[in-house]
Amino acid sequence: MAGSRGRSWKRTLLWIAGVAVVVFLLIQLVPYGRSSHTNPPADNPFTWTDPQAEAIARESCYDCHSNETDWWWATSIAPFSWLTQRDVDEGRAMLNFSDWNGMPAAVVEEMVSEGEMPLSRYTLIHPDAKLTDAERRTLIEGYAAGAAATSGTSDESSPLP
Ligand code: HEC
Repeated sequence: MAGSRGRSWKRTLLWIAGVAVVVFLLIQLVPYGRSSHTNPPADNPFTWTDPQAEAIARESCYDCHSNETDWWWATSIAPFSWLTQRDVDEGRAMLNFSDWNGMPAAVVEEMVSEGEMPLSRYTLIHPDAKLTDAERRTLIEGYAAGAAATSGTSDESSPLP
């Protein structure tokens, strides 16, 4: 009987959709990714000597590597909120332009020139953050100059062993 088979398919689909909605609503209750959207004060800001390089970094790196993260509305919606929280936590621990921890210029050069940073999952939704070859060069050189000009780096706060 084709008719009743059609109805039971519909029921199954409705049931799956209902479960998906309930799961979606329930995961919103998980505090991780929502309760820790902080932008603490800049204790040791990176000293940019090249304003062009600074502008590039602000556009392409600061959301994950500074305390000036743009916590736009979708960053509060699970499961996207969980991914952004992890990226920002790990990103800031590695390199934080607001509380600079001495990330060597050579590592930034490697990450940027090989196209590993900014992360592709970020440029997918922030196409303006994609870098041209010229922007890569400006950022790499500007970072090296700024790193040399930024003081207050101690060995304890270095992320590298
Ligand atoms: C979407 C968030 C995000 C953006 C945007 C981003 N990063 Fe990162 N970055 C991370 C995360 C997460 C890590 C640590 C994990 C890893 O290495 O993949 C990291 C690690 C790094 C490291 C350390 C790598 C290592 O292995 O020692 C450097 C250097 C770096 N990023 C530079 C940059 C620069 C420069 C930009 C901008 C051009 C940038 N990142 C943009 C998230 C991001």
